[in-house]
Amino acid sequence: MMDSGASPKQTESFHDAPEDAAWIDVMEADDLWIGDRVEAESVAGPLLLINLAGTVFAYENRCPHKGGRLGDGEFANGVIVCPIHRWEFCAHGGAGINPAGTQLKRYAVRIADGRIQVAWERV
Ligand code: FES
Repeated sequence: MMDSGASPKQTESFHDAPEDAAWIDVMEADDLWIGDRVEAESVAGPLLLINLAGTVFAYENRCPHKGGRLGDGEFANGVIVCPIHRWEFCAHGGAGINPAGTQLKRYAVRIADGRIQVAWERV
């Protein structure tokens, strides 16, 4: 961590993209506070960005069930709830909680020059 903890800024990224990944600029990292989520449009499609304890995760902002807009649902205690049929997903990686065995489409994330960037290819 680069911060003392007094700042609301995120400080890390969740990055498991291949070496030759193409990165898409999305938003200022300082605008996504710890514990917060933000919907964003990108050339890769609609995104849901979440800052969990200083680590940023990026998901397609569509439920894998029938396409509900995840950013319109509840988000508390690290759980994303789809507003349509209330499927639940872990915000730390996107695995389905209820029902299990489902998975959000996730993008690798990096922070570069104070900007959040996502890899073009989903992981
Ligand atoms: S569309 Fe998300 S749970 Fe059905």
